[in-house]
Amino acid sequence: MPEKNPAALDFLLTRRSRPAKTLTTPVPTRDELTPILTAAARTPDHGKLEPWRFIVLERPALKRLADEVEMRGAARGEARDRIEKVYRAFADAHLVVAVVSSPKLSEKVPEIEQVYSAGAVCLAMLNAALASGWGANWLSGWACHDREFLDVALGLAPQENVAGFIHIGTETMAAPERPRPDLDAITTWMDK
Ligand SMILES: Cc1cc2nc3c(=O)[nH]c(=O)nc-3n(C[C@H](O)[C@H](O)[C@H](O)COP(=O)(O)O)c2cc1C
Repeated sequence: MPEKNPAALDFLLTRRSRPAKTLTTPVPTRDELTPILTAAARTPDHGKLEPWRFIVLERPALKRLADEVEMRGAARGEARDRIEKVYRAFADAHLVVAVVSSPKLSEKVPEIEQVYSAGAVCLAMLNAALASGWGANWLSGWACHDREFLDVALGLAPQENVAGFIHIGTETMAAPERPRPDLDAITTWMDK
């Protein structure tokens, strides 16, 4: 039987993200980030396919990606405020981990299960960062779904996608609590 771990349960019952735009320096060093990535890579993975990988975006890369967003946004005809929002998410960030969903050919494991696993990796990374005392936030944005941005700016293969950009840093203000789901409304107890 697993041992009870009330501290871990309490963490899961009270955890909350810190908005990316409120995060600042310092950010984890490469050594400090390693256990966070290790915890994320411990995510359930049907068939041990490792259908995900990480791209750690440090400051120069984030600045470059912000410029790419500016160019792609204009090319796509995105509204100025939509470009600005995604531009700022990269330009103002100090450390972001792109969790890449990287499904493998498999007769046994449907692709959708591999994509679910990539989503679970994002949550595991977010939680590991929060549990390490960092502020963290899982973001996406239109660039996440722009094929040219993914292929050219991030160097993804055609079958790969970004499951999430995990922003990690030092929090500057307390995050407001967020209304949480009504458990009764989302839970069906099936007893026959
Ligand atoms: C796949 C995914 C993408 C998200 N993208 C964004 C985003 O681009 N911008 C944003 O403000 N929140 C986004 N969120 C929501 C936040 O990550 C998060 O759910 C919210 O801040 C509350 O977090 P908490 O439940 O950990 O407190 C996204 C969430 C998920 C699961």
